[in-house]
Amino acid sequence: MLRRLHPDQPESFMFTPDNQAWAEGQVTKYPEGRQASAIIPLLWRAQEQEGWLSKPAIEHVSDMLGLSYIRGLEVATFYFMFQLQPVGAIAHIQVCGTTSCMICGAEDLVAVCKEKIAPNAHELSADGNFSWEEVECLGSCSNAPMAQIGKDYYEDLTAERMGEIIDELAAGKVPVPGPQNGRYAAEPLSGLTSLKEHDGGKIKYNASAQLAVDIGDTVKRIDGTEVPLLTPWQGTKSQKKTPRKASPKKAAPAPVPSDARPAALSDAAREEGPDDLKLISGVGPKLEETLNNLGIWHFDQVAGLQKSDIAWIDERLRFKGRIERDDWVGQAKALAENKAK
Ligand code: FES
Repeated sequence: MLRRLHPDQPESFMFTPDNQAWAEGQVTKYPEGRQASAIIPLLWRAQEQEGWLSKPAIEHVSDMLGLSYIRGLEVATFYFMFQLQPVGAIAHIQVCGTTSCMICGAEDLVAVCKEKIAPNAHELSADGNFSWEEVECLGSCSNAPMAQIGKDYYEDLTAERMGEIIDELAAGKVPVPGPQNGRYAAEPLSGLTSLKEHDGGKIKYNASAQLAVDIGDTVKRIDGTEVPLLTPWQGTKSQKKTPRKASPKKAAPAPVPSDARPAALSDAAREEGPDDLKLISGVGPKLEETLNNLGIWHFDQVAGLQKSDIAWIDERLRFKGRIERDDWVGQAKALAENKAK
């Protein structure tokens, strides 16, 4: 299946202040030089906030991590868990269509979605409240057929129950996730033969369904206010009275005094104008700005960097080691040669 960005994109994307603080906290989990590894949790949070991943959202996350946009796009378009088109304002329903579910009636569930939501997968319902798609095995085969709605699993479904669930969601209710046929968990359909009591009968739902009920964020958009803990080493929100750390955007290094930098770097680009440093794989708009501030404007400057120059520049980049890891010098040599032709 081709995964493309949606033709209609919003103008911009911003995390809510709480989500922004959460995202900045996540970045601190990774060692120096490896902050780009935070891309999946950050993209996921953007999706939790908006329901889907727009191009501005992918670019915003890429900027936060100092990645070129193509790197962010590669991740977002590769993983099916990222929705690249708007989803229903109330819920996006993912019906499992793999073997166990198919044998047990997944096609009937899809028929309900087609009838009640929209004829085609990834198409919004007329009121914009619902969307659906068929997905591969979600690992709940013993409770087939099943569907994931928002964050939770609805199992042991029938076409009739699927229709009821959609109606309940449309009415503003969130049906209890888990088995929908009275089963507690994944015990035999004929019932338990041993260990029949669940904690003396006090626990109403199985652990997953109970947690889903307790958290209550099945189809809720996450704006960050519901997360009590940012990251253990940064404290909880209530303890965190000081203003948030400035985002990387505001933390761009100031122009460096010329006497403190390698001779090959310069205050301004040559007369013909600066080269597009973003053509170097690993350099995004944010990083290009940083490099310009350091005095790097042209491919031949990068191509001529010596070990000591690289060490000096590395000291001033947020993510150390990337010049050598991404072979900027080799890339810049090829780009400079190409330009000279
Ligand atoms: Fe549907 Fe595995 S086949 S959950």
